[in-house]
Amino acid sequence: MHKPILIIGACGQIGTELTFELRSKYGADNVIASDIREGGDALMQSGPFELLDATNYGAIEDVVMHYEIDEVYLMAAMLSATAEKFPMRAWNLNMNSLFNVLNLAKDKKISKVFWPSSIAVFGPNTPKTNTPQSTIMEPSTVYGISKQSGERWCEYYHKKYGVDVRSVRYPGLISWKTMPGGGTTDYAVEIYHEALKKGSYECFLKSDTELPMMYMDDAIRATIDLMESPSEQIKVRSSYNLAGMNFTPEQMAESIKKHIPAFDISYAPDFRQEIADSWPSSIDDTEARNEWGWEPKFNLEQTTKEMLDNLKG
Ligand SMILES: NC(=O)c1ccc[n+]([C@@H]2O[C@H](COP(=O)([O-])OP(=O)(O)OC[C@H]3O[C@@H](n4cnc5c(N)ncnc54)[C@H](O)[C@@H]3O)[C@@H](O)[C@H]2O)c1
Repeated sequence: MHKPILIIGACGQIGTELTFELRSKYGADNVIASDIREGGDALMQSGPFELLDATNYGAIEDVVMHYEIDEVYLMAAMLSATAEKFPMRAWNLNMNSLFNVLNLAKDKKISKVFWPSSIAVFGPNTPKTNTPQSTIMEPSTVYGISKQSGERWCEYYHKKYGVDVRSVRYPGLISWKTMPGGGTTDYAVEIYHEALKKGSYECFLKSDTELPMMYMDDAIRATIDLMESPSEQIKVRSSYNLAGMNFTPEQMAESIKKHIPAFDISYAPDFRQEIADSWPSSIDDTEARNEWGWEPKFNLEQTTKEMLDNLKG
């Protein structure tokens, strides 16, 4: 039987689906969901839940001891667009929550940690296409600075204290179960909702802004595959580049038009354009493929079909 798992930030876009998948794999009672707020009905009814503040070390430690937790997935964070509005709150949440979990592992109270990084670790001076695993990283956003610092600390805790921490740099994630939580790639989810509701969408990025993206099923599979891989295969202890697909808002609109021919997109770029312009347009994920067998399954056309079919209900 798998040892108990704690998910912190379980009610968000990724945490919700991660909780469902881990519960179906390891049993509902073995996966403790937690968040600072309650989540959707389906999540709340699917197994044990604790209200928990990721910045409160003592509270996390209590839950870890109570349930004899062995692995923690830390999904609580403030995302890119919101973090630009509240820089210090973002820094405090993103860094303190990570230190809390890394320190629990350093003190051997848990044995494995998953912490997600992001393509936001890259910046305007990074090579934009096929961005390599190791390259210039000068993030220009609060969120990117916190993720890059987090990566350095993960590697440090692994090297100095032997902490088994694993991480991927998620691209923008597309899903239908839970709405996204304030990122720069949120348009790629909102567009499907609006296409079905209104037949049109006003995009906050320019038509030709190409970004790396991924369908949620692929992201969840990558996360669990990485966590299940033997420790010696995991050579990168900062965070792995991870690629799914790349497209522009215009290409996404074209793929929607194949299902909804009258769909109309317009563009009104806002402050998020500058964030998007600082990020890569495509990612080289050779290390993840070679070291733990990563391979994406969903392209843009399949994603559009899945999104429209599921949102139609
Ligand atoms: N969604 C994406 O496209 C994407 C891309 C790259 C990286 N990531 C990273 O993946 C992780 C999860 O992202 P997400 O999209 O699910 O975010 P989200 O905003 O949808 O969910 C985050 C959850 O954390 C909770 N939370 C906030 N403050 C908390 C606190 N103090 N204590 C406990 N919980 C708290 C929120 O209530 C929310 O349910 C984050 O680290 C994010 O940076 C996400």
